[in-house]
Amino acid sequence: MKKIEKILQKEELEKEDLVYLLSLEDDDEIELLRQKAEKVLFDFVGNKVFYRGLIEFSNICTSDCFYCGIRKSNAKPSRYSLSEEEIIEQAKQCADLGYGSIVLQSGERSDEKFVSFVEKTVKKIKENSISEKLPDGLGITLCVGEQSEENYRRLYNAGAHRYLLRIEATNPILFEKIHPPSQKYETRIQALKALKKVGFQVGTGVMIGLPEQSYEDLAGDILFFKEMDIDMLGMGPYLVHNETPFAKYSDYYEKNKEKIYKLGLKMIALCRIFLKDVNIASTTALEAMHECGREDGLSFGANVIMPQLTPIYRRKEYLLYEGKPCMELSAEEFNISISNKIASIGRVVGRDLWGDSKHALKKTESK
Ligand code: 5AD
Repeated sequence: MKKIEKILQKEELEKEDLVYLLSLEDDDEIELLRQKAEKVLFDFVGNKVFYRGLIEFSNICTSDCFYCGIRKSNAKPSRYSLSEEEIIEQAKQCADLGYGSIVLQSGERSDEKFVSFVEKTVKKIKENSISEKLPDGLGITLCVGEQSEENYRRLYNAGAHRYLLRIEATNPILFEKIHPPSQKYETRIQALKALKKVGFQVGTGVMIGLPEQSYEDLAGDILFFKEMDIDMLGMGPYLVHNETPFAKYSDYYEKNKEKIYKLGLKMIALCRIFLKDVNIASTTALEAMHECGREDGLSFGANVIMPQLTPIYRRKEYLLYEGKPCMELSAEEFNISISNKIASIGRVVGRDLWGDSKHALKKTESK
């Protein structure tokens, strides 16, 4: 029996197994990994794909992450914030399209004006989205960065019930290499713990294919997700943005594109196999690298898609990386195209549902 077959038969994978599987290069072997991930997905989660309409409501950011196109030191994008009315309109469209949940994402800010704006908007969305199809309103996921525990509590009490905060890299040394000294690894960990304490279903994730990132680092990321008892994952390949300090890695990136893409898919598969019942998003960054990126992500074990609901005229100001897809596609057009893609790989769409992860639901049931 080949080494990969032996490993895939194990009940529990160890770190060295994860490292080995991340290093697979042979397409037939990668296909075996994909099949295993798909089986675990069907056994533990089912074949439904859940949508979250993504509203990038502001690109104003106080952070300066070396890789990100909306970092505060990049003077190129004109900075915007959608009004409460605009956000509510997008949220209503989301509910009309049958997406049971939205993600409100923005650059990182923790000033009172910002936090109270988000708090108020969340309350309004909840009130405005109660319908026969959604008796508890739209499910709301927030992705607005590091905040104090008190702020997290306010946002939770306003009606948001899921929160995404990527750790970006769980190796503290790598984390330090990709962030300025003012952004601390320990603060990020404390923020993740505070989110859990407050009661949010918590999602995190990393960038895959960062310069100087090893297979051991990525295997460590997967172990971290388990240890932190994470409910949702949003991970994607790292992509260069030319107006960032990491533009210096353009050559590295160009040379390794294919490898990074495959690594992104292998990470999804391994997280599915290792964590089993969490929600995993097939992210925009995958599609930015390959036109079949979203379907590939799903067939490697992801079960969540985040269609763009940011108004088209604002999307070009929210470029975290270059090559972002669907810049001109209306929500309706995207809906048709993604629904066809999902059907083409034998999966079904979970409409008008919040689509919480089985992992999170199990925890609530046992309380
Ligand atoms: N490439 C890939 N992902 C990126 N993000 C930010 N910049 C990039 C980039 N250049 C991701 C980060 C962040 C999420 C919103 O987008 O992981 O948490």
